[in-house]
Amino acid sequence: MTRILSVETSCDETGVAVVEDGRHILSNVVASQTVHERTGGIVPEVAAREHLRQVDPVAREALERAETTLEHVDVVAATVGPGLIGALLVGANYARGLAFAAGKPFVGVNHLEGHVYANWLYEGDEAPPEPELPAVVLVVSGAHSDLVLMEDHRRFRLLGRTLDDAAGEAYDKVARLVGLGFPGGPLIERAARSGDGKAFPFPKADLASRYDVSFSGLKTAVLRLVRDLEGSSSRGGPPPSTPRPLAPWAPDVAASFQRTINEMLAERVARAAAEFEVRTVMLGGGVAANLALRAEIQRRVSLPLRVPPPKLCTDNGAMIGAAAYFSMRHGAEGIPTLVRSNMPLAH
Ligand code: KG4
Ligand code: ZN
Repeated sequence: MTRILSVETSCDETGVAVVEDGRHILSNVVASQTVHERTGGIVPEVAAREHLRQVDPVAREALERAETTLEHVDVVAATVGPGLIGALLVGANYARGLAFAAGKPFVGVNHLEGHVYANWLYEGDEAPPEPELPAVVLVVSGAHSDLVLMEDHRRFRLLGRTLDDAAGEAYDKVARLVGLGFPGGPLIERAARSGDGKAFPFPKADLASRYDVSFSGLKTAVLRLVRDLEGSSSRGGPPPSTPRPLAPWAPDVAASFQRTINEMLAERVARAAAEFEVRTVMLGGGVAANLALRAEIQRRVSLPLRVPPPKLCTDNGAMIGAAAYFSMRHGAEGIPTLVRSNMPLAH
């Protein structure tokens, strides 16, 4: 039995968890930074400062909820990249310090591998079967949109990625245009429930690569439409992050945007699932919490679709504990140790 204490601070969530054998969540405490709501986006220095304030109490709570202590933990792990450098340094240095003080090994984790390995996690006594490999995996977060072939544990091959914005970034930017708050993904999803996804036809970029995506055209189309709908009178009005009453057309714009972006992603996933002989399709990252995206992919692929529950899709410490365990089990080679803001999932 390997018990890992794992720390995640790459962006705006301070997460610490205790995970057994890379799968069983004993505790998973996440403190989301709400200070960024005011700025409508993440200010890196503010994020780092908040992590510094939160990481120790969050870690203590994680140990307490797991009814364990540092002495009974075998390994301490932390995200070392990719992410905001100041934010990463807080969590990684904290975890390294704990490991050193307690005489335990430290394992650095690639955050994107964490999003993939969230699919191995479970709570409670009943262990569900592990996802079968090889798999096609879509990792869609606030900073990444990677479609990869997972040939085996920790063996990832890049099939496609975004040429501009990440999917979550597109969700966040459109939410701001439509007058919703931050982070935008869950708010778009909620607003879209009362809207018509076919109200506005948006363009889908057609790229030379079969698996890459680009969202800048879609974003511009939403911007133009919103300007038209608002009329010239509101130009020069309050800045987009200022709360304003939701416009009557907002749910239709949200639903149409959501349908378009989800179809673009689902088309690529279905194409990859058909082309490669895989046994599973997996999703990960904050945008995978979107239920409409899951449904769109499920509609197009007949293979088993694995998606973590929404709270394990967005950043958390448990996924880092899972990835750390499988890194250790499947060869220490290539385990990152130094903090780097840029760290790809696959080449
Ligand atoms: O993985 P994550 O928590 O952090 C990063 O690693 O970036 O992803 C955050 C992103 C944000 O852009 C957020 O708007 C998006 O995931 N997101 C969603 C949903 N929940 C979170 N996007 C669409 N629908 C959701 N339900
Ligand atoms: Zn993430």
